[in-house]
Amino acid sequence: MDKLQDSEYLKRNQYRDSSRLQSRIDLHRDYSTSSEHWFQWVFNRFKIPSQARILEVGCGPGHLWVENLNRLPADWSVTLTDYSEGMLRETHRQLGKLPGQFWLAAADARKLPFPAQTFHAAIANHMLYHVPDRPAALREIRRILRPQGTFYAATVGMDHMQDLAELVSQFEPESAEGFQESKNPFTLENGPDQLRGFFDRVQVDRHPSDLRVTRADPLVDYVLSSFRLGVDESQREDFRIFVKRQLDRHGGVITIRKDNGLLTAVKSG
Ligand SMILES: C[S@@+](CC[C@H](N)C(=O)[O-])C[C@H]1O[C@@H](n2cnc3c(N)ncnc32)[C@H](O)[C@@H]1O
Repeated sequence: MDKLQDSEYLKRNQYRDSSRLQSRIDLHRDYSTSSEHWFQWVFNRFKIPSQARILEVGCGPGHLWVENLNRLPADWSVTLTDYSEGMLRETHRQLGKLPGQFWLAAADARKLPFPAQTFHAAIANHMLYHVPDRPAALREIRRILRPQGTFYAATVGMDHMQDLAELVSQFEPESAEGFQESKNPFTLENGPDQLRGFFDRVQVDRHPSDLRVTRADPLVDYVLSSFRLGVDESQREDFRIFVKRQLDRHGGVITIRKDNGLLTAVKSG
């Protein structure tokens, strides 16, 4: 099975804890060209009423909330779920001291342990492409939303970071085949039709940002954190030398074009 959708592999390995994901988030945080950072940009797109109950599925270590804590309406109640116990432990370390506002639960997005029509908004940030049975997850998200509730699903576009795939394939041809977003089952291009089977008024917003990377190590960490880029720990030093040479060749900057965005949809009726 494709590792991208292999729940057992993802739970036990890639997302056992947040260390691998963190290497990728660090690169985006430190080298993005946009002044509006990703998690702030996503938060700025929310149109969520006061006194809302909000569910995030696949919350990881809770970055969306940690990064926006200083402007979180005090009357929102946020339930954070993930199927990785390790991710939830880290979320608890970050946000557990705010009981009453944050609730944590281990849950698979395909079987949510909540009554129908509980939440005013639901969020799935860069996680639906990991769910092999997306209709099951979308059906569950629709079920737990109240009528007129909003679903926010963040994902990548088909061209997202293909410059990086190309760079890695210069180091080792064919190594980055698994990073072709054209094969990704839930993108900004193929996601809207999938949502339309369950929701209405589907809208696509793109975050205008690229990467301008000026140091080798963060890029090496990023590539090694991902099972999709086909470079492993035993190649770290060789790959580092390769990236340094590339930086020299490109005047100290490696530019990687990104395509991240947010799909917004409404449960009508
Ligand atoms: C790429 S990470 C994104 C984490 C977080 N949403 C963020 O944007 O930082 C994907 C997360 O989804 C979780 N995940 C993947 N499939 C899931 C499923 N079927 N049910 C619940 N969580 C899932 C993983 O454990 C991981 O924490």
